[in-house]
Order: sequence, then C-alpha cells, then structure tokens
Amino acid sequence: MDATRRGLLISGAALAPGVALAAAETSVDPTAPPAIRAHLGVTENPFGPSPAARKAAAKALEETPYYAWALEPPLVKLIAQRDGLQPDQVGLCNGSLEALSLLSTAFAKAGPVVSAQPSYATPLLYAERQGAKLEWVQLTADQQIDLPALAERARATKAGVVYVCNPNNPTGLLLDANALRAFCVEVSRTCPVIVDEAYIEISPDPARNSMMDLVRAGHDVIVARTFSKVYGMAGLRVGFIAARVDRVRTLKSLIPTHKGRPGLAAAAVCYGDETYLAGAKAYLEGCREKIYAICRANGLAYLPSHGTYVFVDCGKPNLQFQKTLASLGVEVRVFDSPRHPTWIRVGTASPPELDYFASVLPKALKV
Ligand SMILES: Cc1ncc(COP(=O)(O)O)c(C=O)c1O
Repeated sequence: MDATRRGLLISGAALAPGVALAAAETSVDPTAPPAIRAHLGVTENPFGPSPAARKAAAKALEETPYYAWALEPPLVKLIAQRDGLQPDQVGLCNGSLEALSLLSTAFAKAGPVVSAQPSYATPLLYAERQGAKLEWVQLTADQQIDLPALAERARATKAGVVYVCNPNNPTGLLLDANALRAFCVEVSRTCPVIVDEAYIEISPDPARNSMMDLVRAGHDVIVARTFSKVYGMAGLRVGFIAARVDRVRTLKSLIPTHKGRPGLAAAAVCYGDETYLAGAKAYLEGCREKIYAICRANGLAYLPSHGTYVFVDCGKPNLQFQKTLASLGVEVRVFDSPRHPTWIRVGTASPPELDYFASVLPKALKV
C-alpha cells in the first residue's frame, strides 16, 4: 500500500466520528517512493465507511476465529425489508463482481452474454474465460447504452443473459428509467436481464432509477448492488443481488466460499443510512466537480457522470496518453472500445490526488 492510501486509512481510523475530515486531511506525500502518486484508475470511494461501519468491522475482529454464518440472515432480512423484497429474493455475495461473474458464466451456457461496449467488462471477461460467448453492442452517438440495439441483438443471438450497467461504467451516464424498465420487461421474457446498480445510490432519485420494482413484480431481472462504492467498503467485499427466488438459489449454489465477518457486520449497520449516504454523495460530487474543473481548465471534453469517475476525451491516443500520465505519477484507466480511442476514465480519488493530477495534466497534454 502506498503512502497516500495508508494515510487515508490511518487518518480515517483516528477520526472515526468525522469521516469527512478523514478524507479532507489526506495529503499526498511528495517523497513517496512508488511511481504512482494519484490513483485515478479506480472507482472506489476515499470517503470510506460510515463511523458505525468502521466500529462494527473492528468489533467483528474479536469473533474472527469463527465463520460468520449467523450474520447472514439478519443482513438479508434488513435488505429485504428496506427494498420491499422477500428474504429469499436476496442473495449475498463477496462483492457484486462475484455474483456478476458466476451468474454470467452460468447463463452463458444457454446463449451469449449481450452487453453494451464500453461497460464494466470484468465479470463478462471472466465468463468468456470460462467459455462464454460475448456479444458487444456499441453505444449511441450520444454515448448512451443503445437499448433497442441491445434488445435486437439479444433476440437475434438467442442471448443467455443481457447485462446492463446503470449508471454505466465508464461513461457515468444514467439511462432513462422508464425506457430501461420497458426494456427489462420485454427482454426478461426470453432471458434474464442483469442490471448492475453499483453506483445507483449517487443518482438523483435512486428509488425511481433502480429496477428493484421489477424484481418485486416477479420479472426475471437481477439487480446487483454493492457496498464497495458509495458505502466506501471495497476492501470488505460485500454485495448482493435482488432477484427471483430461483436465481438467488442458483447464485447460492455457485458461490464456493464463506463471507467475511467484518464486512457482514459493517454492512448491517450502514445499509440505507441516509445521513452517512448524504455525506458520501456530497464528497463524491465534490470530487466530480473538481475533475470537471480540471477538464475545463485544460480544454478537455467530458461526460457529466453519476458514478465515482468521469469519462474524459483527452484528444490523444488513449494508451499512449495513459503511459505519459503514468510516467508523471498518475494512473488512469482506458477501455477496450473501438469508438473511444481517445477517452480515459478518471476516478474520484481523494482531493490531494486530484490536485496532483491537475498539476501534471498540462505537461502530459504537451507531450
Ligand atoms: C459497475 C460495477 N459493478 C460492479 C463492480 C464490482 O464491485 P464489487 O465486486 O467490489 O462489489 C464494479 C467495480 O468496479 C463496477 O464498477
């Protein structure tokens, strides 16, 4: 772990009741030995877990000699209650990537996995390594997921599953809720539709934008959620799906291992904590605004984002630009997408990391 990240954790632990301060007081160590001084390639939330979650995770360490079976039903019940589901419609996982990967692989036995490109490809590439066939559908000219084209491709290829990430990663764009709802109802008649809502909590109206109501209504829609992003708990590995009972059963049959006690304990005390979420959202919005300002100051186009990242057109071949930035101590992500050869994704890292990015970007753009 590098000095910046370690500093975050240490200040976070010391300032448990004032998490906002923990993030604000982090500073980039100019003498830090690792080459990368600004980790903008990631989509985590440096604001970190809520004070209650930190406390619960720390307390759970006392019980770590023992497996955490007993912590699962209360968390499932809590999620089910908050989201208007039956407990057997909720399946816990070790981060949503686990569920997304295992379910995509399983459904791909019946037909290809259909997804927009670019999108969060990690679980789909996992499925491909297990033998799945992937079908990519390009975004529309305005960078949005092309729902009619996705539905058409699903029909034409007799898809085994369709994956939709909303808001999309890396664009950060949110789909029109009613258009997505109609799409899910139609396509889920022939195959399951996975809606990855990893960042939905930072969207303007999460309840309206979420497809959870379709799960409640019994459609074959699998909503994937995580505690890794807005809840600031990526290192604790907790996620869940909300889905039809048979789909939850399938997931349970596929997961080969147990869940961690600190993560389950932390999730149980922060799920739906509106006070904490308001603070986390404000922090992330501040980071996004900072990225927008950096882009504007350097004449770069970007997409207004609902995620923990901003998709930026750097105007140069992105792989080369990524290397140039890395040589200056900044890590960003590029995506495999034929229509985005000049785009990079900039993560909402801590403000000092973003300041560092701002300080070297003009130099990088001159190369
Ligand atoms: C869109 C999306 N879904 C899911 C995940 C997986 O998150 P986790 O496995 O930590 O829950 C990520 C992580 O980057 C993501 O960006």
